[in-house]
Amino acid sequence: MALKDRLEDDRQADERVSRAGVAHWRQRLLEEINLDELASLTMAQRRARLEKVSGHLIAREGPVLSAGERAALIRRVVDEALGLGVLEPLLADESITEIMVNGPDHIFVERAGQVQRIDTTFTSVDQLYQTIDRIVALVNRRVDESSPMVDARLPTGERVNVIIPPLSLAGPILTIRRFPRAYTIEELTEGGAMDTATALLLASFVRARMNLVISGGTGTGKTTMLNALSAFVPGHERIVTIEDSAELQLKQEHVIPLESRPANIEGKGQITIRDLVRNALRMRPDRIIVGEVRGGETLDMIQAMNTGHDGSLVTVHANSAEDAVYRLQTLASMSDVKLPYEAIRDQINNAIDVIVHLVRGPDGFRRIGEVAVVSARRTEKFALKTAMEFESEPISPDRVVRGVFRHHRLPGLVADRLLAAGESVPGSFGIESSGGGS
Ligand SMILES: Nc1ncnc2c1ncn2[C@@H]1O[C@H](COP(=O)(O)OP(=O)(O)OP(=O)(O)O)[C@@H](O)[C@H]1O
Ligand SMILES: [Mg+2]
Repeated sequence: MALKDRLEDDRQADERVSRAGVAHWRQRLLEEINLDELASLTMAQRRARLEKVSGHLIAREGPVLSAGERAALIRRVVDEALGLGVLEPLLADESITEIMVNGPDHIFVERAGQVQRIDTTFTSVDQLYQTIDRIVALVNRRVDESSPMVDARLPTGERVNVIIPPLSLAGPILTIRRFPRAYTIEELTEGGAMDTATALLLASFVRARMNLVISGGTGTGKTTMLNALSAFVPGHERIVTIEDSAELQLKQEHVIPLESRPANIEGKGQITIRDLVRNALRMRPDRIIVGEVRGGETLDMIQAMNTGHDGSLVTVHANSAEDAVYRLQTLASMSDVKLPYEAIRDQINNAIDVIVHLVRGPDGFRRIGEVAVVSARRTEKFALKTAMEFESEPISPDRVVRGVFRHHRLPGLVADRLLAAGESVPGSFGIESSGGGS
């Protein structure tokens, strides 16, 4: 049966059984069974036990249903009782940051930065589809041949992506990213992401309204760092945050979170990051924080930074601090406002003050690889001055990365800006003499 037909059949059967009161039977089921006993069973045993008990209950107390409807009702009741089935214990495990389901038989999880395969499987591809249906139904979306890719979010905040055949050749794929914990800068420092002096310096940069770009590869902790640094924006400022999928958790009182929106099934109604950036400029923001720039909105952002909206924070996907400025240039050139490369470079040199580049080591730990200050002026070629870099020792056989966070002198102009804003330069960095050199 085609997937669409299957879903339609399911939907009709579901409607009939819903009228028979899934919630009621789930409640009865939970009253009837011994939860302690249940906890000691495997997932498959649990399901079998629940099916048996709910079958008895419905037969004794329930309405008259056809055999098929009775089976559907039992399935729904048990599904509800089991929530997201085999995924439930994984979601309950705080140490798991990502769950990756590649078809019914292959489940991988990420723990402490390391990906490992686990023994759990779905009993069938249908059971996996049911779980996917339940997840996307929570956000009123559906997965079928006409929309085979869906982004959704669990009520507890986890970000979910689904892609199914024929686009995926490995069966239905489900990727669940735990809602990133909001680490404070102290926690990141304790975890080894940077040293204390660097944390102090970055906090000063933010308070002094410098424009910061956080760069790094996928999953290197850009959003986490952005969130931690955002804490240093003074509480009286009006902050507009712009994201594809709201992850930032700012504590300040005056925060306006905006979230972009994909096109609907007819391809209409899309609101891009760029639309939101433009709108944000009319909202009298003191600061604009963009979760990630990926396209033409980069130019709007850079222009905003150059026209009084300083103190902005963004992240960008890049392989090094140097790569980040070139990425910004490329992304800005994707705007429909066509500027020559030189003019874009001028704007970037003017706008961006600091790049914080994150890396994820072979040990799975995420840390700052480099803090670089943009030192080129106007249309000069891009030039960065390293303020801090992580110097790693050769990796040991235990695959633990050891090294030091090395500090360098800050360019005089940057130090002046910090001092003018009432901030200080941590002693271990120092300030370049006006002649330059480090
Ligand atoms: N310094 C850290 N220590 C421990 N865990 C971290 C650290 N930084 C990030 N993480 C965890 O790593 C995962 C990915 O982090 P995050 O979402 O911030 O990365 P990202 O670079 O923004 O990813 P993406 O490229 O998908 O946007 C999250 O689960 C987050 O909690
Ligand atoms: Mg991110």
